[in-house]
Amino acid sequence: MKKKLLSTILSVTMAAALLAGCGSSAAAPAETAAPAEEAAPAEEAAPAEEAEVVEDVEEAAEAVEEAAADSGAAGDVITVGFAQVGHESDWRTASTKSCQDVFSAENGYDLSFVDCDNDEAAQKEAVRSFIEQGVDYIIIDPIIATGWDTVLTECEDAGIPVIVIDRTIDDSDKYVSWVGSNFKTEGLAAGEWLKAYAEKQGIKEINALVISGSTGASAQIGRSEGFQEVADREGWTILDEQTGDFTKAGGQEVMESYCKSYEGKFNVVVCQNDNEAFGAMTAMDNAGVAYGPGNDVILISFDACTAGLEDVKAGKISADFECNPLAAPFVEQVIQQLQKGETPEKEVYMEEHWYALPDQIVDFSIDGEAQTMTEVTDDVIAAQY
Ligand code: AHR
Repeated sequence: MKKKLLSTILSVTMAAALLAGCGSSAAAPAETAAPAEEAAPAEEAAPAEEAEVVEDVEEAAEAVEEAAADSGAAGDVITVGFAQVGHESDWRTASTKSCQDVFSAENGYDLSFVDCDNDEAAQKEAVRSFIEQGVDYIIIDPIIATGWDTVLTECEDAGIPVIVIDRTIDDSDKYVSWVGSNFKTEGLAAGEWLKAYAEKQGIKEINALVISGSTGASAQIGRSEGFQEVADREGWTILDEQTGDFTKAGGQEVMESYCKSYEGKFNVVVCQNDNEAFGAMTAMDNAGVAYGPGNDVILISFDACTAGLEDVKAGKISADFECNPLAAPFVEQVIQQLQKGETPEKEVYMEEHWYALPDQIVDFSIDGEAQTMTEVTDDVIAAQY
C-alpha cells in the first residue's frame, strides 16, 4: 500500500472523527457513538481549513479506490503488525487466536505478532518496530490506557493507520478505530446483579473484597468504576481492592492474603477475570472458605471463558460477566473499509452476555435498561471460547 496515500487517509479520518466529536471513552454506549461520516457535516461547519479537509477526503477516497483496485489486481498481501498485551489469561489466548485466524496468509495478510508480556515499554518498542518494517496497518491492544500520544504521533507521521482493539487508549485519539468492550457496563452489570441477587436471598449487608485486573488497564478501570458506583449507591462496604494482574497466580496470592486479613468478615469476592477467580478459589479451598451459591461467599467473575462457565455450572462462581475476545473480524472490517477509502466508525462495541445458573438468574437493569441473563448449559459452554 502506498504510504503517502495512507498518510492522507489517516489524517483525514482522524480529522473527520474529531469533527464528529467522537471520544475514546469506553463508557459511552454504542448507540451514542456517532459514526464519523454521519456526524461530520463539514460543509455546514465549514471554516476554510475544514472545507479543505473535505476536498482531501474526496481526493483520497478516489485515490484509494484506484490503489485498492490495483492492489486487488496484483493480489497484494496486506501487512499488519499486532502488539498484543501478553498471554496472562484464557481470554487473551482466545483473543490472540482470533487475530491469528483472521489475519492469516490464506486471508491475504502477513501478520507480525508480538506478545508484549504485559510490559508497557516493550509494547511501545513493538509498535516502533512495526513502523520500521513499514507495515500497512498497526493493531494495538494497549496494556494501560495512558502514555500513547507520542508513539501514535510517530505512526501518524509514518502514514500507518492504527486500530485499537479490546482495551482503550484514553489520552490520545490518533487512531482510526477502536473495537472492544464496554468495561464500565460490565462492572455495573456485576453490581446491579449483586443488588438484585442479595435482595432475593435476603442478604442485608455486603462486605466485598475485590481482586482487580492490571492497574491502569481500561478493563480494570471500567470494571472497578462500574462496581464501585453501585456499591456507593447501595452503601456496601468494599473492604479491600488489590490487583491480581489478571492472572491465576495473582488471584491466588491476593486471596491468600485476604483470607488471613479478613477471615470471617467478607461475604462477596469480585475477581476481575476468570483466571483470578481460579486462583482465588484455590486460596479459599486451602483456607476452608466455602463459596458459590448456597455458601457463605458469593464469587463474581468476568470474562465468561469456557473454564469460567464450567465453574458456574459446577456451582462455584455465582455469576460471570462476559468480555468478548472475538474482536478481530471487526478489526478486519475496519481495514477493509480503509482499503476501499471508506471512513470506519470510531468506536465499535462487542456484544456481551451475563451468565448464571437458573437460581442465580435475577432481573436487573443498567441505567434503566432491563438486562437478560443467559443460563449456563453444556451447549452454552461448548459454544464458548
Ligand atoms: O482486556 C481484557 C482483559 O484482559 C480480560 O478481562 C482479561 O482476562 C485479560 O487479561
